Amino acid sequence: MANGKSALDVCTPSLTPVTNAKLDNGKRDKGSLNEGVENVEYTLKPTTRAYASTARLNLQHYLWKDQTGYLLHPSIPLSGIENLKIADVGTGTGIWLLDLARTLPPTAQLDGFDIDISDCPPEQWLPRNVTMRHLDALGEIPEHLAGKYDIVQLRLFQVVVKDNDPGPLLRNMVKMLKPGGHLQWGEYDMTTHTTIKASPSLSTTALDAIPAFVQGFKKRDGRVGVQNWIPHLPHTFRTHSLTHTTSTRHATAPPYLPSQLDVYLLTYEELAAKTFDPMPGGHGDRLRELVAAAGEEGRRGVGWGMDRLVVVGRKAGGGGEDGGGSLVGEGGRDGETVVGGGWWNGGKGKRGGRRESLMRMWKRMSSS
Ligand SMILES: C[S@@+](CC[C@H](N)C(=O)[O-])C[C@H]1O[C@@H](n2cnc3c(N)ncnc32)[C@H](O)[C@@H]1O
Repeated sequence: MANGKSALDVCTPSLTPVTNAKLDNGKRDKGSLNEGVENVEYTLKPTTRAYASTARLNLQHYLWKDQTGYLLHPSIPLSGIENLKIADVGTGTGIWLLDLARTLPPTAQLDGFDIDISDCPPEQWLPRNVTMRHLDALGEIPEHLAGKYDIVQLRLFQVVVKDNDPGPLLRNMVKMLKPGGHLQWGEYDMTTHTTIKASPSLSTTALDAIPAFVQGFKKRDGRVGVQNWIPHLPHTFRTHSLTHTTSTRHATAPPYLPSQLDVYLLTYEELAAKTFDPMPGGHGDRLRELVAAAGEEGRRGVGWGMDRLVVVGRKAGGGGEDGGGSLVGEGGRDGETVVGGGWWNGGKGKRGGRRESLMRMWKRMSSS
């Protein structure tokens, strides 16, 4: 490899001695994943307090799972697929993949990819059917990963997508899918951001100031600030040859708004340290002051509501083109299902999406 490391070095968390080589399809993995991974810029995850970043990602995962009710969207068929292969791109701590592995037979292969896998458990502590590898999802996807996966997941990539354009990432993910395979992409839709109060008299000054403060930097770094591409993701899936598109929105239920606010504020603290501190002008300190004040406001009973948007699409080919276990939402290809949203506005959807309970959605999908 160009940087003088072997593929095995690259695939192993830096603090961990290599004692057992990972096998891929029974062969030692010789794949040199794409180059330059160590030079990719990332706006979060400061070099200090790594434990705070990983705790934030893990809390975020469990809230996400709890508030959506699934790891894999119910429209993704699993039955009848032997030796299922799943990739989690931008895996972070690997928590989604590890949680999913517990629900699947050991014949399933689950591969996590990230520019930085030092937050994943050491290889020795991973189940035998789980691997973690370095990969730049925006770089060239190596041929040995092309057409390999039944399912690819991306989650929380809003600060990775450049220039408000998810296209390059989407093309790479589609390349990794087998014909007929499914892509699941989950994001907070920042365009649905609302401030929610337990009682009308409560102050939200700091809470309201944070998005405005960060938005002011959007021009300097296209990956910071509101991401307009997110609500258009279902349409973008269709323009990238993904069919049977399903999109589902999940709000945060009121009892979980304080925990969710903690996740958001911790994210802003990371942004302050990693992205704003290196700039002149004390912007990192200013953001930390706002975060501390917002934390106080949050304790008195205010929070941020933001939809989680989960979009699923199927790569053409592989048979079963006329349904084949995949789901097209009741509203047709443009249908959007909203689950448990609008707690704070009496259940009236903000965007005219359909609303049904998770239980009803599961029943409808399993009987279709
Ligand atoms: C907000 S975290 C989300 C982690 C995980 N998907 C989850 O939901 O818990 C974003 C992750 O993307 C990774 N990342 C950033 N740029 C990347 C790139 N170009 N290719 C692959 N991963 C990247 C970061 O290192 C980080 O672990």
